Amino acid sequence: MFEIKHKDNRGRVGLLKTKHGTIKTPALMPVIHPKKQKIDVKKHGAEIVITNAYLIYKDEELKEKALNVGIHNLINFDGPVMTDSGSFQLSVYGDVDINNKEVIEFQEAIKTDIGTSLDIPTPPYETIEKTEEDLAITLERAKEAVEYKEANNMEMLLNSVVQGSTYPNLRSFCADELSKLNADLYPIGAVVPLMENYKYCDLVDVVMASVSHLPDSVPRHLMGAGHPMIFALAVAMGCDLFDSAAYILYAEDDRFLTTRGTYKLENLQEMPCSCEVCCNYTPDDLRTMKKEERTKLIAEHNLNVSFAELRIVRQAIAEGSLMELVEERCRVHPMLLNACRQLGNYSNDLEVYDPRIKKSAFFYTGPESLKRAEVKRHLDNLKDMDKKRDLVILPNSKKPYSKYVNKSKFGEFYTYGSERELDLDNTDFMVLDVPFCLIPLDIDEVYPLAQNESPKIRDIDSIEFIENFISEFIEYYDQTLISSKVINDLDIGLYNIHPQSNEVKFKKDDKRKIKAIADYQFGNGVGETLFEGDLTIEKSKKTGKIRHIYSNGTLIANMRASDSFFVLAKEGAIRLHNSQPFPENRVVVNKDSEPFAREGKSVFSKFVIDCDINIRSKDEVLIVNEEDELLAFGKSLLNHNEIMNFNTGQAIKTRKGIFNNG
Ligand code: GUN
Ligand code: ZN
Repeated sequence: MFEIKHKDNRGRVGLLKTKHGTIKTPALMPVIHPKKQKIDVKKHGAEIVITNAYLIYKDEELKEKALNVGIHNLINFDGPVMTDSGSFQLSVYGDVDINNKEVIEFQEAIKTDIGTSLDIPTPPYETIEKTEEDLAITLERAKEAVEYKEANNMEMLLNSVVQGSTYPNLRSFCADELSKLNADLYPIGAVVPLMENYKYCDLVDVVMASVSHLPDSVPRHLMGAGHPMIFALAVAMGCDLFDSAAYILYAEDDRFLTTRGTYKLENLQEMPCSCEVCCNYTPDDLRTMKKEERTKLIAEHNLNVSFAELRIVRQAIAEGSLMELVEERCRVHPMLLNACRQLGNYSNDLEVYDPRIKKSAFFYTGPESLKRAEVKRHLDNLKDMDKKRDLVILPNSKKPYSKYVNKSKFGEFYTYGSERELDLDNTDFMVLDVPFCLIPLDIDEVYPLAQNESPKIRDIDSIEFIENFISEFIEYYDQTLISSKVINDLDIGLYNIHPQSNEVKFKKDDKRKIKAIADYQFGNGVGETLFEGDLTIEKSKKTGKIRHIYSNGTLIANMRASDSFFVLAKEGAIRLHNSQPFPENRVVVNKDSEPFAREGKSVFSKFVIDCDINIRSKDEVLIVNEEDELLAFGKSLLNHNEIMNFNTGQAIKTRKGIFNNG
């Protein structure tokens, strides 16, 4: 029903299948008024819409027509239609004259694609007692709806809404309970007041507390979110669907939505975008126009910018630049920047969902970038790696650092720790970098260490960040030599000046390099086993970069030119399997799928019974059976949680399955 195509942080580009067609997510569902609708939303890019079942139910004429011809004909939309249950009316008027069962039954009767149970939208900052009371009812009704749907073999998909006001633990509890129900979609409710009041920071806490307890295989809908300014942020947190009455409500009030915020027509000197409305009319044209005509045009602009923004978001996910987009978008309002900074406090969670390899370079856009998943991952790896006795920290040079570093001036060296001659055979060489702090020269071509750009004029936050990391990191070494060029940039404490500087040169060594990359990619110690024996390292004639590694004539691995990670060959997979204990780098498939894996067929999620918790999408993985026999190897399309969660779709794109019995 739902399938993930591309990932970046918690953001995903997916496909959601319904009776009325498959739609691409993240998607925006314009709210359709069953009676007053004047705009053809499909023309502006809507693939799916939402309308209110309760409003239809309450109106005798609409109700009869909906029951006779179905919701799609009633609102004249042939794609998927979602309906809401009247919960919003409940929250505004305190009561609705329909019960949970009736609203479920009615939505099925009018042939909605996705229906909603009658949840209670508890507003933000409600007392904990009232929130718990409401939540109990919301959960009870969600359960009743799912049971009722199953008992009556209903065709429609079902929303189960996450509530819990602004209590992260109650949001998580609600998400845990709803996850047990196997609902088809999980909306996150009662967030409209947060957005209306610019409480985006609390929105981050609410959404993260919810999504981190929801299954990854089910789409999430941020209810009532319709301002394009927050799409990138919400998507980065794992939201797949948005709905918007904003496009028309704002238009009725002469307000233009843009990714930079909202503009009032009366203040406009220029039209705010380049959509067909903005190209064909001036602000004066609109100001002198009849209200009805003007509202329609502004609403069309509002839809145009909203769908354009979703295209930009989906493109950013596919190329791996979603966080750059979030950081850019969040700069339009201090409260959004606050939210972006708050999201940085969830980098442990985001890192788990973030692919290690992306198509686009890492761009540092400001101090918020210090909290990105890539930075956290690299610093964790640095702390975890096997360390030599001595460390040399060299200044930043042109990239690739390992090629140009010796050409830059080191000045004198300062020492930290014991003072003696440098143990050159037992030294880690690293280059100072923003924001990755230290880049070991042997792995300087690996993504994103080579593919990262930051301004040469540094900000205080990043200097402090690097100082803190390095001060801690050098404690792992017996002796650290730091170039005075580095000291000029940082303030790491008191040092003795080291007399020697001439012999502190980095010497390239291809064997050491490929082993270091293998350790970085697969785990400590893998390099030694993977590249054991008599090696031949073949390089590209054009670029001089390492391309293929053979051992006694047998190909072990190829190095991918774009990110310098290894792509395993059969011999490499066997060696990796021997080098690491179960379950590292492994995906375990059941007996039924074993023959298919051995033949090289891709692995579907439903056949996976276990996998390494450290797997991220795009990682090279080993496919084994329950006895840990190697069946095949390939590239993971999902991370650990997603592989285990999904019951449909591919999990691993198998490169080769050539491990036949005997
Ligand atoms: N629309 C906006 N917020 C909500 C909510 O919390 N629940 C439902 N059912 N619809 C909404
Ligand atoms: Zn426009």
